[in-house]
Amino acid sequence: MTKNIKLLAPSILSADFSRLGEQIKEVEEAGADIIHLDIMDGRYVPNITFGLPIIESIRGLTDLPFDAHLMIVEPEKYIKEFIKVGCNMISFHPDATIHTHRTIDLIKSNGAKAGIVLNPATPVNTLDEIIHYIDYVLIMSVNPGFGGQKFIPQTLNKVSKLKILMEETGREDVLIEMDGGIKADNIREISMAGVNIFVSGSGVFKGNIKENVKKMKENMYIFI
Ligand code: DX5
Ligand code: ZN
Repeated sequence: MTKNIKLLAPSILSADFSRLGEQIKEVEEAGADIIHLDIMDGRYVPNITFGLPIIESIRGLTDLPFDAHLMIVEPEKYIKEFIKVGCNMISFHPDATIHTHRTIDLIKSNGAKAGIVLNPATPVNTLDEIIHYIDYVLIMSVNPGFGGQKFIPQTLNKVSKLKILMEETGREDVLIEMDGGIKADNIREISMAGVNIFVSGSGVFKGNIKENVKKMKENMYIFI
């Protein structure tokens, strides 16, 4: 059902923050579909990025959906705030909260799409009891914390496992997002595996943004 949905989500983590507004407009003009926001707290992951005031200040620059990837402990404490400043999609790591189901509910009842993130070592069966409630799954293809890491090929097998689970549970409408090490030269293979939303930081922002987006979009469309 969702196999022909293919969306590119540049992660602004690799943008030039001194020209953030311009670069957001540039990716939008180049054809990006979603803006991916990597929120890190220095506790769940060993890095700190940015938070609510930055999101609020860039929200007016684009109509593209904002996809917040929360790499923070106790995400439930901040979810309402992230939605209030304009995030349309919120994903969190289930091992960062005690009550996964309640946190999903909080996201959805405040009007955003809810996603669960699987780290490279987190098995797909973590989703067995919650697949019924979510809108998307974010499969990490690097360890969370930093941009510019190398794609872990083993994580592609999880896409097939997830597709089986989606079929078994009648949730073929769940979107599959993949994040980390995605570039113009591997996006086709990732797309073929069944991924719908491609997050890319360094693959988009390093070098020529327009050309990078164009190449990635050309390579990510597959018609089956
Ligand atoms: C890692 C982040 C990713 C990352 C993507 O924790 O979730 O979104 O910044 O960057 P690249 O595409 O450079 O791996
Ligand atoms: Zn991310």
